[in-house]
Amino acid sequence: MSTHTGYQSGFGNEFATEALPGALPAHQNSPQRAPFGLYAEQLSGTAFTAPRACNRRSWLYRIRPAAMHKPFRQIGNVRIVSRFDEVAVPPNQLRWDPLPMPQVPTDFIDGWVTMAGNGSPARQSGCAIHLYAANRPMEYRYFYNADGELLVVPQQGRLRIATEMGVIDLEPQEIAVIPRGVRFQVSLPDGEARGYICENYGALLRLPDMGPIGSNGLANPRDFLTPVARYEDREGDFELVAKFGGNLWAAEIGHSPLDVVAWHGNYAPYKYDLRHFNTIGSISYDHPDPSIFLVLQAPSDTPGVDTLDFVIFPPRWLAAEDTFRPPWFHRNVASEFMGLIDGQYDAKSTGFRPGGASLHNCMSGHGPDAPTFEKASGIDTSSPQKVDNTMAFMFETRDVIAPTAYALGSQQLQPDYYQCWQGFKKFFDGKQE
Ligand SMILES: [Fe+2]
Repeated sequence: MSTHTGYQSGFGNEFATEALPGALPAHQNSPQRAPFGLYAEQLSGTAFTAPRACNRRSWLYRIRPAAMHKPFRQIGNVRIVSRFDEVAVPPNQLRWDPLPMPQVPTDFIDGWVTMAGNGSPARQSGCAIHLYAANRPMEYRYFYNADGELLVVPQQGRLRIATEMGVIDLEPQEIAVIPRGVRFQVSLPDGEARGYICENYGALLRLPDMGPIGSNGLANPRDFLTPVARYEDREGDFELVAKFGGNLWAAEIGHSPLDVVAWHGNYAPYKYDLRHFNTIGSISYDHPDPSIFLVLQAPSDTPGVDTLDFVIFPPRWLAAEDTFRPPWFHRNVASEFMGLIDGQYDAKSTGFRPGGASLHNCMSGHGPDAPTFEKASGIDTSSPQKVDNTMAFMFETRDVIAPTAYALGSQQLQPDYYQCWQGFKKFFDGKQE
């Protein structure tokens, strides 16, 4: 086993990495005999004929081909949902308390529960939003997802994600993206862990265009880190679990599938530290649209309309004068699933806890609660104010986000969330102040 860990910087770059010197073929992708007797294998994440700018594929040089395992059999997956047309979607604002940590040994895959989603893996469109809570490493199990890439947002506890293409060490306030098909295993350096996963069925997440912002700002490409090659030469009785067609499948495998000694290409896992986000906002008046906080986007076939946006609300200065500084009241054509990684969200005084979640669907009115409104409409805005001790995020989608039967029946669902917006006083009396 190679113990090599480390990262290469950049987003969607043509990386080249080898855990053993000389393991990467010098020139060809698939020479007649690859170095060290390795098998050459291509992993394609986009159509072969996708335009060059968005074409993603990597060449893996591995101890055994990925095809070498016993047949898959379907396994139970009552907590993971991939159909979102079976429950009537209420237009209510919804909010949940954090998912409790498991009481029985539960690994990263068994610890998923689907909260909401839209589209379908069969159509390669939409996304599923899961929570995870785990307290056991995936010691003898490996996993891959054929249905979509995984955007992992830890909230509590670190994750060590050992993938075919190298190791990602992840902590809260960082995110990782595991591409469709890449095999991995998760261990828990802190013993237990909890967070959010967005399973993106659609086009690969990418950095947004920035228009008049220019060539720097938001999430800078150099802050995205892709692991260097690292392999396991490990034999034993292991299980390879696949999510395919909305179902979970398991196959016996007699060796670790994390046996890639070298690889090159631009289809690979990556991580990003949200604290590196270059937050941009108003320095005169008014509050920009939340698209100013866009980290990653999955574009749709309609220009300017994404199937999925990943947006964050990090610590920042508020400097706009004569302006209501927190997020305003609004209704959107888009649908918004929010989570809180740390601290407090500036539009809610209470009730939105780290590890919790909220859902505001298409055209459902929402915004600050009454105490936040009263405070923010009365403060002195002649000097800047720091919003600190916070890291909230949003999965925003083009299609309505359907909560699952689990989410609607969960003990974590807050039945009194609507009360946030019941306490507004009537100030209007028809007379100018
Ligand atoms: Fe919103």
